[in-house]
Amino acid sequence: MVKDIVQKIVSLCKRRGFVFPSSEIYGGIGGFYDFGPLGVELKNNIKRSWWKFMIHERENVVGLDSSVVMNSMVWQASGHTENFTDPLSECKSCHKRFRADHLVEDIRNSGKMNEYGLSDNDLDDIAKVITKIKCPECGGELTPPRQFNLMFKTYIGPVEDDATRTYLRPETAQGIFINYKNILDTQRVKIPFGIGQIGKAFRNEITPGNFIFRTREFEQMELEYFVKPGNDDEIFHKWVEERMKWYTKILGIKKERLRIRPHKKEELAHYAKSCVDIEYLFPWGWGEIEGIANRQDFDLSQHQRFSGIDLRYFDEKENKYYIPYVIEPSCGVERVMFALLCDGFNEIEGGRTKTTKPAERSEIVLKINRNLAPIQVAILPLVRNKEEITKKAREVYQMLRSHFVCQYDESGSIGRRYRRQDEIGTAFCLTIDFESLEQDDLTCRDRDTMEQVRVKIGDLIEFLKNKFNK
Ligand code: GLY
Repeated sequence: MVKDIVQKIVSLCKRRGFVFPSSEIYGGIGGFYDFGPLGVELKNNIKRSWWKFMIHERENVVGLDSSVVMNSMVWQASGHTENFTDPLSECKSCHKRFRADHLVEDIRNSGKMNEYGLSDNDLDDIAKVITKIKCPECGGELTPPRQFNLMFKTYIGPVEDDATRTYLRPETAQGIFINYKNILDTQRVKIPFGIGQIGKAFRNEITPGNFIFRTREFEQMELEYFVKPGNDDEIFHKWVEERMKWYTKILGIKKERLRIRPHKKEELAHYAKSCVDIEYLFPWGWGEIEGIANRQDFDLSQHQRFSGIDLRYFDEKENKYYIPYVIEPSCGVERVMFALLCDGFNEIEGGRTKTTKPAERSEIVLKINRNLAPIQVAILPLVRNKEEITKKAREVYQMLRSHFVCQYDESGSIGRRYRRQDEIGTAFCLTIDFESLEQDDLTCRDRDTMEQVRVKIGDLIEFLKNKFNK
């Protein structure tokens, strides 16, 4: 059943041009995806919404776009060279590789500890548990876990040696920390203030999976919010509330499918004093879509130490220098996109229109927040063989294109075209019919209610603008 829903979403994404597996004509490449015409619109809408909510609407937050490849010292200072690892275990027979911690978590979730002669406490000792379990693929013996660094290596220039080696960034955050002084020196920011960034990050995941949930290349939306030490706990909690507001009030994700999960001590990243995940209830269970961490002064202190540059902040009010603490809300664009697709996916057995033919009994409606819909408005001439109608429909299309993301569609029956638009989440369908020729109006159909109203073409832009948030 779970597989069924995920499979249906994956298939919709492929069929309608949201997401394609990367390099498909060469047999694919695990953990990488391409975003088609509808996927890129949806991703852009998510990113725009985040940028507006986190940066434009706040006086004390500025944006940044730093490079993906940085001096390798960045990763030594940040601790990623040493600590950014996952435990890897390999099957001695089939040589498949696994995240050892995930195998242990599967046992915890299955509640079958007795079968392995394990207690709850044993589950914290991954190495001990791995000796007692077998390869989930072939039943073979597993190797003891070893730490595997997730950073993708690359080399600068033609010579490949230790001196030229660096990495594709595994988080955008470090680009912010190494520009913290540039921002302080060029902007009139005062603590507390934030620097936000959206950009690609790369992790050589041992087991990418669950479609676009765990991929090796992805986009992050990260804010580093610099605060006075001592104010960090209070501001941390405020950011958790703010971020929940974005998911529920701005994106419109169902509240009951979101939860806040504090990290256990042993789960905390090497830089974090505390962290909570915002999780979404995916068809297979709860999954992290955002982490909010209190990174303390870890990163700036490390960069100060490794670079020898003074990264202290002079607090005029307090008349003293300190290294700020950092609160970091960090989320993945693709995970938010996947949560939106799951949240909006509705399959209606039997169809919701009378015109549905038996062969098309089940209809999909993607009830995604209309402000995020990849196509805002579809323009549909009722028939394609009446020139006055198609001509008028094309005129409406031309008129709306500079105001909304539009699609013109004249192929197939009108019922089929409605269903096609419902499936991709188009917010409104405009139909130009015979009456339109007389009355200079059209029908506007709401995706969710299927209510149709007649609107004068002269009033259309204003009418539609009022339907979307600016
Ligand atoms: N910057 C936090 C993370 O990438 O997980």
